[in-house]
Amino acid sequence: MTARTTQNSLVNLLPTRVSDDNGLAQDVMQGLSQSPKKLSSRFFYDAKGSQLFQQIMELPEYYLTKLEHQILSRQRKEILYAIDTQNPFQLVDLGAGDAYKTKLLLSELVASKADFSYVPLDISEDQLNLLLEDMHHRWPHLEVQALAAEYFQGLEWLNQNRRQRKVVLFLGSNIGNFDLPEAQNFLCALRQTLNPEDSFLLGLDLKKDPEKIRRAYDDAAGVTSAFNLNLLHRINKELQGDFDLDQFQHFAEYDPLEGTMRSFLVSRQAQEVHIGALKQTFRFEAWEAIHTENSYKFTLRQVEEMAGSCGFTIQEVFTDKTFGFADVLLRPV
Ligand code: AVI
Repeated sequence: MTARTTQNSLVNLLPTRVSDDNGLAQDVMQGLSQSPKKLSSRFFYDAKGSQLFQQIMELPEYYLTKLEHQILSRQRKEILYAIDTQNPFQLVDLGAGDAYKTKLLLSELVASKADFSYVPLDISEDQLNLLLEDMHHRWPHLEVQALAAEYFQGLEWLNQNRRQRKVVLFLGSNIGNFDLPEAQNFLCALRQTLNPEDSFLLGLDLKKDPEKIRRAYDDAAGVTSAFNLNLLHRINKELQGDFDLDQFQHFAEYDPLEGTMRSFLVSRQAQEVHIGALKQTFRFEAWEAIHTENSYKFTLRQVEEMAGSCGFTIQEVFTDKTFGFADVLLRPV
């Protein structure tokens, strides 16, 4: 990091809010009118949902964060060596959250006086403001430009800022929350924004004992259940809904053939839910489910195929001792 005046800032790329829903109303209208019913997991992350996700990451059953933390703390020198931190670059962190794991790389980069700036992107402006404060406190001379944006808006930003070399991080198996065609589409769209000298570090949860995976999404303390149900609470709050949260239950199942961890909210009885902002009443049969999230688990061969078909080559794979999680360093070809 070179000595310079830092201009840490937050740039909001999210669409201007006409009403207060950010696409929630449309998603709810569409998702609850179709069969099977569906809600998008991107709406989990209001302030309460982000807080619950922080708690999930600390649960004993939620191994993903621990395994990736282990990889990044034990192999950070090797990772940064492979990326080449001798030449200036921008470190773009897609879905940064509280940057818990990225901080391992940042502290190494700052200590080695690498010439870089940090660009965290997150959908939550509140989360980014906390992160900016934390960064300023830890590393007052680090240049940080925070982007409040969804992933695909982040790609537009990357496309418009191609002049500086980029190291893009997409950690935490966030890619697993896309449907597979969407994940492929995202990888290809990201590839289009990168130059040959750029790098991309992709964190992925790998296929493993199905019981271990299922438990990570149905923890004993019920935090994941609260995280899932909070989506209904958000709809009540933001769209004047009257969901009775006690009449829905969290259910999670893993399909080891497809590698799909699926989460649902199941209606415990036949009931009607009115959503004021939509002027609409939705009917639920007893035990009818709303599909709320997919969290895909991958094989390395699958990653190689997906990345290869978008014009990436695998430069190096970093895994934990159990081969449960991988951070894959990709290069544009
Ligand atoms: C953010 N994402 C990678 C998490 C996951 O594992 O799919 C979200 C989550 N859902 C339930 N627990 C955690």
